[in-house]
Amino acid sequence: MSSRILITGANGQLGRALVKRYPEAKALDRDQLDITNQEQIENYPWQDIDVIINAAAYTNVDGAETSEGRVSAWRINASGTANLVKAAISNDLVLVHVSTDYVFDGSKENHQEDEPLSPIGVYGQSKAAADIAALIHKKTYIIRTSWVIGDGSNFVRTMLGLADRGIHPVVVADQIGRPTFTEEIASAIDHLLQTKATYGIYNLSNGGPSVSWADFAREIFASAGESEISVTDTTTKEYFASKDNIAPRPMNSTFDLSKIESFGFKPQNWQENLKQYIEVEADK
Ligand SMILES: NC(=O)c1ccc[n+]([C@@H]2O[C@H](COP(=O)([O-])OP(=O)(O)OC[C@H]3O[C@@H](n4cnc5c(N)ncnc54)[C@H](OP(=O)(O)O)[C@@H]3O)[C@@H](O)[C@H]2O)c1
Repeated sequence: MSSRILITGANGQLGRALVKRYPEAKALDRDQLDITNQEQIENYPWQDIDVIINAAAYTNVDGAETSEGRVSAWRINASGTANLVKAAISNDLVLVHVSTDYVFDGSKENHQEDEPLSPIGVYGQSKAAADIAALIHKKTYIIRTSWVIGDGSNFVRTMLGLADRGIHPVVVADQIGRPTFTEEIASAIDHLLQTKATYGIYNLSNGGPSVSWADFAREIFASAGESEISVTDTTTKEYFASKDNIAPRPMNSTFDLSKIESFGFKPQNWQENLKQYIEVEADK
C-alpha cells in the first residue's frame, strides 16, 4: 500500500510526518511537484499511484491578508487543490486533503463536521474553497485539524526558543482549541485508509482538554522544566492592536472528535504528546 501513496508538500510539517509514516511513498516537495502547475499535475504518471495525500498548502495566515499573499493563498490552497481533485477523478485515486479550523468563524464552541463554512480571513476562505473542491470527488477524505505542531515553525518551538532566552511571554488567552501533533494526523490518515472508512470529512485534533494559547504556553514551559518562565494573559485584540495585516482568528477552534472515534481512532491526549515532542526536541 505505502509504495502507491503520493505525498505533496512533503517538506512541510505534516509532509515530514507522512514521509516518516510512509517511507516508501512518492514524497514530493514543491520543486518536484508544484500543485499549482496544472500541466505538471495532468501529466504526472498517476498509473503508479492509488492515493494522493495533499500536505501542500499556503499556511501563512497573516501573509494571506496582503495583496501578494492573497493571490498565493488562493492559487495554492484553492486552485492547487482543484488540480489534484481533477487528477484524482480522472485517474480514480483516493484523495486525502487537510483542512483547518480557519474555515469557521469560531463562534461555536465545538465544531462538528457538518457545520456550515464561515471563514473570516483570506487563508480560511481559500481553504474553505479547497474543501468544496475536494468534496466534488467521491473518494475524498478531508482531515480537518487545528494548531498543528510538527517538524517546522510552530508554537511549541517558538515558546521553547523564548525560554532559552529567558523571555517571559505575553500570550493570548481568549482563543481556545486543542493542539494537533503531526504524527497524530499521520496516524489518523493511516487509520482511515487501512480501515477503508467512509469517505468524507473527519475532525482531528489531539484529545485532552481544550485550552487557550496562554495555558498551552504554561503547559509547554512546565513540560520542558522551565516553570520559572511566567506567561501573562492578553486578549487577541490587545495583542494585535499595533500590527498591520493581521488575519482575524476563530476564537473557538475545538473540534468534536466523536466521528473519528466512532470509526475506531482514539486521538492521544495532547499533554502526553507534548511531553514526547519536548523529549525529542531536547535531544536535538
Ligand atoms: N500549521 C497549522 O497550525 C495548521 C492548522 C490547521 C490546519 N493546517 C493545515 O495542515 C496542512 C499542513 O500544514 P503544515 O503545518 O504542514 O504546513 P507547512 O509546514 O507550511 O507546509 C506546507 C508545505 O506545502 C508546500 N507548498 C506550498 N506551495 C506548494 C505548491 N504550490 N506545490 C507543492 N507544495 C507546496 C510548502 O513548501 P514551501 O516551503 O516551498 O512553501 C510546505 O512544504 C495544511 O493543509 C494546513 O492548511 C495547518
